[in-house]
Amino acid sequence: MNWNALRRLRTRFLQFDEREQGAKADHTDYWRSHSELASYDFTLAERIGWKWDTVLTELKMRGWTPPGGTLLDWGCGTGVAGRRVAAAWPQAFRRLLLADRSVPALHFAAERAREAVPGLEVREAAPADTPDLLVLSHVLNELSPGALEPLLALAARAQSILWVEPGTHPVSRQLIAVRERLLPQFRAVSPCTHQAACGMLAADNERHWCHHFARVPGFVHTDPGWGRFAQALELDLSSVPFSYLVLDRRPDAAAPDPAEARVIGEPRFYKGFAKILSCQTDGVAERVLQKRDAPELFKALKKAPGSLYRWERDAEKIRGGEQIF
Ligand SMILES: C[S@@+](CC[C@H](N)C(=O)[O-])C[C@H]1O[C@@H](n2cnc3c(N)ncnc32)[C@H](O)[C@@H]1O
Repeated sequence: MNWNALRRLRTRFLQFDEREQGAKADHTDYWRSHSELASYDFTLAERIGWKWDTVLTELKMRGWTPPGGTLLDWGCGTGVAGRRVAAAWPQAFRRLLLADRSVPALHFAAERAREAVPGLEVREAAPADTPDLLVLSHVLNELSPGALEPLLALAARAQSILWVEPGTHPVSRQLIAVRERLLPQFRAVSPCTHQAACGMLAADNERHWCHHFARVPGFVHTDPGWGRFAQALELDLSSVPFSYLVLDRRPDAAAPDPAEARVIGEPRFYKGFAKILSCQTDGVAERVLQKRDAPELFKALKKAPGSLYRWERDAEKIRGGEQIF
């Protein structure tokens, strides 16, 4: 394990996060060695994989299936996103295309994908390629506005898009801007609960951001290797926030059910009640659940909050509900 490289990468990613949007610029390739790529793939990329697993599990639960054919992983790094998606629907794709400005990353990702999904044709993407499914993972905070435009043009040619990013305020807001740009051509599948303008854009919601928490595999909390990793990088592995966007232009793609509500972030608990920031067709708003109104739901939310619910609501009050995911 190349600990120094991991610390350097982590520091660099956090610096990207902190930079003001206007000051963003394209950076030169930062992948230095095979050992650095391998260490990243084994740890930080795997942690990103838990975010992907959470999204893919929900999509499968909803009955969403990808358009088959060509899968393109843009900004692939070591290729965790493309591998996770190809492995989730092993029969769906004929080829995996990889795009990254880093040649060592491209080679690493291709090698790992060939091992992980035998039989899949894997090659570097060419500018004229049109993906059926475009996947993007943790790329937004490294892009200059100049790099974003061609990427959105590529996205606009895809049938479907799966996009996972860190769960920070600035990056989530960038992803919302992407949603608004692409929505005329696509249907929002997830995390959105409707096709209208994002409720986060309402003036009252400026301080909020659309973020969710990955379902971290149980063994991670007891595994000494992950313990050492968490300590070395000062990361809390029990709380892995992320933002994401699933868009689909196919008319029959599993669209959100208007009765469903998305929990944003995590509920906040007080004595006898909880406040839940909830996204539904009528916007993003804080809803209140009194423990006495639905003790079982209250208890379940406190123990392990879900992401998607069907509320029984009385204006802003939640009187009961059923967890969908
Ligand atoms: C934080 S890494 C994420 C890698 C991978 N997608 C993941 O989730 O682990 C961002 C990747 O985007 C690539 N990248 C950044 N800007 C790029 C650009 N303008 N064109 C192509 N690749 C770019 C970097 O080389 C790097 O591999």
